[in-house]
Amino acid sequence: MPHGSVPVAGGASSSLRHESAHLHVAGEARYVDDVPLPPNAVHVALGLSRSAHARILSMDLSAVEAHPDVLCVLRAQDVAHNQISPVGAGDEPLLAEDHVFFYGQPLFAVVAQTRHAARHAAALAQVTYEDKPAALSIEQARAQGGALVCRALEMTRGDAPQALAHAPHRLAGQLVVGGQEHFYLEGQAALACPGEDGEMRVCSSTQHPTETQHMVAHVLGCPNNLVTVEVRRMGGGFGGKETQANIVACLAALAAARTGRPAKLRLDRDDDMMLTGKRHDFVIDYDVGFDAQGHVLGVDMELAARCGWSADLSGPVTDRALFHADNAYYYPDVRLRSLPLRTNTQSNTAFRGFGGPQGVAAAERIMEEIAFATGLDPLDVRLRNAYGTTERNLTPYHMTVEDSITTEVLSQLAIDCDYRKRREQIRAFNKTSPHMRRGIAITPVKFGISFTATHFNQAGALVHVYTDGSVQVNHGGTEMGQGLHTKMVQIAMREFGLAQERVRITATTTGKVPNTSATAASSGADLNGMAVLAAVRTIKDRLVTFAASHWQTPPEQIQFTAQGVVVGAALVPFATLVNAAYMARISLSSTGFYKTPKISWDAATGRGRPFYYFAYGAACAEVAVDLLTGENRMERVDILHDAGLSLNPDIDIGQIEGGFVQGAGWLTMEELFWDTAGQLRTHAPSTYKIPACSDRPRIFNVRLMENVPNREDTIFRSKAVGEPPFVHGVAVLHAISDALASVDDYRTCPGLNAPATPEQILRVAERLRQRRAGADAQARA
Ligand code: MTE
Ligand code: MOS
Repeated sequence: MPHGSVPVAGGASSSLRHESAHLHVAGEARYVDDVPLPPNAVHVALGLSRSAHARILSMDLSAVEAHPDVLCVLRAQDVAHNQISPVGAGDEPLLAEDHVFFYGQPLFAVVAQTRHAARHAAALAQVTYEDKPAALSIEQARAQGGALVCRALEMTRGDAPQALAHAPHRLAGQLVVGGQEHFYLEGQAALACPGEDGEMRVCSSTQHPTETQHMVAHVLGCPNNLVTVEVRRMGGGFGGKETQANIVACLAALAAARTGRPAKLRLDRDDDMMLTGKRHDFVIDYDVGFDAQGHVLGVDMELAARCGWSADLSGPVTDRALFHADNAYYYPDVRLRSLPLRTNTQSNTAFRGFGGPQGVAAAERIMEEIAFATGLDPLDVRLRNAYGTTERNLTPYHMTVEDSITTEVLSQLAIDCDYRKRREQIRAFNKTSPHMRRGIAITPVKFGISFTATHFNQAGALVHVYTDGSVQVNHGGTEMGQGLHTKMVQIAMREFGLAQERVRITATTTGKVPNTSATAASSGADLNGMAVLAAVRTIKDRLVTFAASHWQTPPEQIQFTAQGVVVGAALVPFATLVNAAYMARISLSSTGFYKTPKISWDAATGRGRPFYYFAYGAACAEVAVDLLTGENRMERVDILHDAGLSLNPDIDIGQIEGGFVQGAGWLTMEELFWDTAGQLRTHAPSTYKIPACSDRPRIFNVRLMENVPNREDTIFRSKAVGEPPFVHGVAVLHAISDALASVDDYRTCPGLNAPATPEQILRVAERLRQRRAGADAQARA
């Protein structure tokens, strides 16, 4: 093994418990709101717009300011630089200037002695608006001229119109997929503490400490080096804290700078849901040509998204929808277009899968349509169109899929869960059951790993070894429950031969590792793991060189093991070696750096290799649908997933289970609703339903694929696992659709949109009943 290491128990590739598990379960893990406040701390609350699109005629804050516990009120004019677009679009004021662009947009911030007083005072504002026409939905945005928040993207390969024109079969349709609230358990929160001479330290619940640092410096009008952002952990992020944490951190910092006192802003859940962006909902129009055997010949698709009032990350999100509009399938001739529409709603943002799941949903609808049109089992249509390994392996963005294992994964899972037999049994059951219908579906995922913006694919780490042989690891990634820190600890344990107690991970801070990327795109472990490894190996190399001369031993005979450091015939405790090295004035600290090789992407030409590799998997879902109430239940779910050589199988299985349930929730029960005034009416758990424990599948089998090392040289040949399993939720939508299809004897594709709420299910069932009645009447005539 290189660098003189052997795997140790609890090291990489074993199921070490989460580094904070004991704190999570005891309620001792500290989140921003748990940081003890200095006695002079102040609290911030926001005043939000009550119009979706308007000119502000007047904003009378005298009653707010007159509240006895209010210290000051911040308006747009109090901010040095009021623009906080994370992509430099210049369309996102921190506080509204003379116009408001969505219902819930922050107008002002109240700074008060207590959180209660701040919230109470904020409600005393008198604001008058001159309302303007608002575009709330994709439909309305289109009707009003279809203004975009950023450039649209087009990907083409071959000649799709030509292929469609000549295809023996052709059909067009539309898929509507809803948005999704992140519903992190810990809401957005920040605590800003002013230091001396203009310094500002911010504890933030952010996935992107570096960007938060830059934004805070920007709004304060100071250089980056005065601002330090620290994140110990988040109580969930799911993409919702990739950019959306900035506004909270910025306002806390402004309040701290203005008052000279520590300032905290923790959004109330309703305010959090009212003002932060969510998953983009899409309307996808597809036109597909195919042959009688179910092979796709040509695809033409337009993917329109509700982006909200500002650009935020809508560019890369809608791009990624296109990157995944093929899912695991080869389209011989293809044209894909995005339509990132500006609307007067919250600015939609990153959410697990980053637009990818919406693209996959479109690909799977196409497979389903072809299955109904040809009478084939949808699984066979999927298998026939899966990417090949040596041919039929070029994506719409001209990247060759080098390692497609979709066929193997689908086939294996179908055997393991007895898909074909159960499908027959379900069809037989449905014939005898008037109201309860069952359905089954099996869908694959192929998910591209890397940030599509190439420069984000870099990471740094900082590792310290202390003279007692204990180790501190720091890196640029953030912990949001996904187990990233645990995996980073495992890398240091394995390399140094140390037990878990000897390796401590410390809070992520811009002061230790600068210029980091967001912990996102599932790449946290890939990027930071390699950076940690680089730092650790630098220190190890120094120790080996030292030990070789100190004990007159050839370097090849020095090995770091769980028992200690083998130096020739001797076994030297790690701490002894380290202390001896210290006495010899050897540096015991190192940075590490990594950048992903091989990748490139040119949006102008729609070509490149945006992904270092793909993660694969498949899910089979069986559901029961009650045709009288529209309710549905997951009876059984089987998932087979590819995490390469998993860094931590238990954590990865947790990611797969959680991702799947979140994906199923998105497609079946989570529904966002805006009224005609543009007010989000689903802004609390009372009106917005996420999956509960009782909604989990009755039978839930999750397996990692075995002996599937990543072909690429990733950290210990593992694969990213954060987002890809979210896509497995698509199997549930298709299982519900399969159950519904029984209503007209599987003659037509139900065209089930998401979320498949009970209302939606009842509507589709009714439509199918009428179709069946029509067909029966025709048959009699
Ligand atoms: N798992 C938990 N428990 N909490 C989270 O917030 N976020 C997801 C995923 N898994 C998330 C999670 C998202 S959106 C991403 S991009 C990845 O974790 C980020 O972490 P990673 O890159 O370390 O996998
Ligand atoms: Mo994840 S949506 O990339 O934060």
